[in-house]
Amino acid sequence: MSRQDPHSYTDTDQGRVSELELALDVDFEAHKLRGEAVLKLAEPASGSLDLDTRDLAIDGIAALDGKPLEWQLADAEDFMGSRLRVELPAGTAGIKIAYATGETASALQWLEPQQTAGGEHPFLFSQCQAIHARSMVPIQDSPGVRFSYKAEISVPEPLAAVMSAAPGGKVDKPGAQGRAVYSFSMPQPIPAYLLALAVGNLSSKDLGPRSRVYAEPETLDAAAWEFEGVDGMLKSAETIFGPYLWDRFDFLVMPPAFPYGGMENPRLTFLTPTLMAGDRSLVNVLIHELAHSWTGNLVTNASMNHFWLNEGFTVWAERRILEKLEGEEAVALSATIGRTGLQGEIDRFGEDSPLTQLETDLAGTDPDEVFSLVPYEKGFLFVSLLERTAGREKFDEFLLDYIEQFKFVSLTTGDFEKFVEEKLPGVLAEARSEEWIRGPGVPDNAPVYESALLGELQDLAAGMGEGKRPDPSATEKWGAEEWQIFLQGVPKQLPADDCKWLDETFGLTGSKNGEILCLWLVIAASSSYEPAYDRIRAFLGEVGRMKFLKPLYAALFGNDETAGLGKEILEKNAGSYHPIAKLVLEKMLAG
Ligand code: BES
Ligand code: ZN
Repeated sequence: MSRQDPHSYTDTDQGRVSELELALDVDFEAHKLRGEAVLKLAEPASGSLDLDTRDLAIDGIAALDGKPLEWQLADAEDFMGSRLRVELPAGTAGIKIAYATGETASALQWLEPQQTAGGEHPFLFSQCQAIHARSMVPIQDSPGVRFSYKAEISVPEPLAAVMSAAPGGKVDKPGAQGRAVYSFSMPQPIPAYLLALAVGNLSSKDLGPRSRVYAEPETLDAAAWEFEGVDGMLKSAETIFGPYLWDRFDFLVMPPAFPYGGMENPRLTFLTPTLMAGDRSLVNVLIHELAHSWTGNLVTNASMNHFWLNEGFTVWAERRILEKLEGEEAVALSATIGRTGLQGEIDRFGEDSPLTQLETDLAGTDPDEVFSLVPYEKGFLFVSLLERTAGREKFDEFLLDYIEQFKFVSLTTGDFEKFVEEKLPGVLAEARSEEWIRGPGVPDNAPVYESALLGELQDLAAGMGEGKRPDPSATEKWGAEEWQIFLQGVPKQLPADDCKWLDETFGLTGSKNGEILCLWLVIAASSSYEPAYDRIRAFLGEVGRMKFLKPLYAALFGNDETAGLGKEILEKNAGSYHPIAKLVLEKMLAG
């Protein structure tokens, strides 16, 4: 037996799934997907085949010719789910599994009409990263296993289905009355965590020859305006990484319950609607998900222990694209926001915590529970350091080699180090890579981002702690990043009259930029600033993005005067939060 991913029952000595065919009915009444998954193997195999499942009801398993097969479902092990063991007769090319998802499938969120922009139709979406695909499909749910897929999804009319795949349109099939079947095909092999499905009242608009935005009709125009620049981003990314290999880069703007900022589902990135600030100030998240088309979706981490290879590289790429589009000052601001966020995580975990290493050992740990900015921002600093050490020109060449070498492959940190040593000999040692990769915290040779503007912002923020208010005229030229840096630096507990002044002078409670609003509401909660409570209630009642929920609830729970309010708001909304968000918040409240 050989298990290479601590979060999967996949046994690399057994058969390997290389094609998936899904036929599923979406049942909005029962909150279930029901149907069949055909798993085809790369080569005919025999003996046991271990699959990942979570909360699935297995109705039967047969060979491709219909002959029933023996199988057992092991007891569930917490976030790992249940190992499904299928016994394959000699020469088995594939299997068919009839199944249904559980009501509490961790990959799925079923929204009531009132949780959508239109308010009339329900909505369903999946979020499979890191280890939730197994609650949607019985599969080898490890990023080391890639498969192409086809799907036929039956949904109630007038709803439409979209997936991380090429849409094949509606299938002409004598189906059930009032239902439509949408077909999909994903020819490029993907790991299970990039499977994605959404069903809702969807409309779409072309934004370029390779890009289209999907959204509910009520938000489509605003979404199209906000992300109009997508084609330029795509072209700019190609100049760094080489050709885009996924044909199209479409994206879907989700209802506000979506728990992340974005998710890089290939051919169909999912985005939170909180990016629609009305001024394009948060498009970096779209750039980030686009950059994953290379780092993550082509070159994939072998397991969550090597997650920094996905995210650190992608944040670095995001900022390289930002540099091209907006210049170096913009990168310095963005990196500073990241550095402050990283420091917050290091303070939370502790300086010496193994969770602050780049390579981690997460065996026995639920990746959702330890999700943090460390792989993102420490990873970014390390990749930037490698770039500086090698020199940009050499590093850019390296990057193209790296993508060429590992496209459609998954790799470990060790594989990465070996490749760097081969292509850029000596660079790892010069950058003190061992300290970065397997040591905690941020080594003292980290790249530093400085500028006159940054220093000024940080001084003004610190001044608030000494009762000095910035001259409003000095803030006139500030963009969203400047505001974020300022608010990150302002002491969390301010006197009520300073809160009042900040809010009345700058209209923070009315900000349409979710990042700015969240930073402000954290200050307001920590300062027991009552006039903001209604906005806190409304924000936490609408938005499911964990990046906002976590700090805001933490601020409420961390202040004796607002802890009760926090509990009241959580109790009211827990039922409509995403299963992952609910779990993370309940753990936070308990510990
Ligand atoms: N792949 C991640 C989202 C993710 C990570 C989902 C781990 C589940 C488990 C995505 O690319 C991401 O990083 N999103 C960020 C935005 C980014 C600009 C840092 C987010 O959601 O905020
Ligand atoms: Zn990412």
